[in-house]
Amino acid sequence: MSASNELEKAATAYALDAVRLDKQGTKGRAITLYQKAIESLLQLVQLYPEYNLNKVYIQRAISYQERIKVLQVSVSPTQIRREIDNDSADPESSTEGGKSSYGELIQSEKPQVNWEEVVGLETAKRAIKEAIVYPVERPDLFPLGWPRGILLFGPPGCGKTLLAAAVATEIDATFYSIDAASIMSKWLGEAEKKVAKLFGSARKSSNDGKPAIVFVDELDSLMGKHSNEVGGEIRVRNQFLKEMDGIVDKGKKFHVYVIGATNKPWDLDWAFIRRFQKRILVPLPNHHTRLMMLKLYTSNLQLEQSVDLHELARLSEGFSGSDIRDVCQSAQLKLIGEFFESGKATDKLAKPRHINMSDFRATLETRKPSVSLDMLSLYNRWFEAFKAL
Ligand SMILES: Nc1ncnc2c1ncn2[C@@H]1O[C@H](COP(=O)(O)OP(=O)(O)OP(=O)(O)O)[C@@H](O)[C@H]1O
Ligand SMILES: [Mg+2]
Repeated sequence: MSASNELEKAATAYALDAVRLDKQGTKGRAITLYQKAIESLLQLVQLYPEYNLNKVYIQRAISYQERIKVLQVSVSPTQIRREIDNDSADPESSTEGGKSSYGELIQSEKPQVNWEEVVGLETAKRAIKEAIVYPVERPDLFPLGWPRGILLFGPPGCGKTLLAAAVATEIDATFYSIDAASIMSKWLGEAEKKVAKLFGSARKSSNDGKPAIVFVDELDSLMGKHSNEVGGEIRVRNQFLKEMDGIVDKGKKFHVYVIGATNKPWDLDWAFIRRFQKRILVPLPNHHTRLMMLKLYTSNLQLEQSVDLHELARLSEGFSGSDIRDVCQSAQLKLIGEFFESGKATDKLAKPRHINMSDFRATLETRKPSVSLDMLSLYNRWFEAFKAL
């Protein structure tokens, strides 16, 4: 798995554990784990300062931080309770003392990702345009209505989150980004009410003429068969199902969409699957797409003439988009490391040498593709069984 993906996954795992402990009332441990989740997210942001999804990650870190604050202040369970109650005041009315925690869930700044930054994935892009972009532009051309639920599934690091961000940019929608851990941490004890409010606010946005996208990342950990069903998840799930029913087959002016992303679609139960009328596989990049990605991620690097991107595309068979970005970054880092070690960096005018083919080969040799062939065949089998493009 690529470093960025690993950090993202680590953050999610810490946060989910934190939520579990939080629910059990093990506050100290929960705080530590929320902190670890935050650290992983911040590391990710520092490692890739240019990363287009950083806003999403920072948002998540903020939501964990908020929960920590609540836990730290509270010395007794009743006090925690009070904290949460205060927190859950009506979002519209809570203007004093900063934004309500609910308000912060809504991305005030959308991640600005353009379609061009999403390399390849032509089928997925087309399906999304047909389901969301065109109906928003010309609802009159869709006498039979159009789908409101879209499920993106596939191996890690291939662009699901990126695609969702690109749609939000394209249609200038109000973008509500939620992930399992932040929804549960932020809304502990109140989650189902908050789900209702979230959809209420999405409907309002649509009624006011601005489409709304509710993006649920890591859908399986919130809605999966195996999600921990002790602390209200069932109620959250049911509320979610109810809300999703409430947005289909509405009038032509109604533009609320739910985009779910998962890399474990088989963990979703049928109640969920069928409410996502479009189910789109976001696959590993093929040779051509890898080539385009290599071009994109080396465009700001100094390469020697001998660097053959076609050959690199061939050597990176089985790599995800995120892996490829990592390979390019590692090659660059290695070179800069050498430059510093040679002592030349002290001369401010000195420049590092250009990257050559063996730099790339060396990084490629030290890594394996993140996704195994077994995994791929699982995705394909699931797609054959449940596809809906
Ligand atoms: N199709 C792509 N085009 C360009 N960059 C990509 C693509 N796929 C992945 N990447 C790079 O990898 C990063 C991670 O992608 P993203 O977070 O969208 O993957 P994901 O499918 O959501 O993964 P996960 O299942 O782990 O959440 C992107 O921000 C981008 O830098
Ligand atoms: Mg993702």
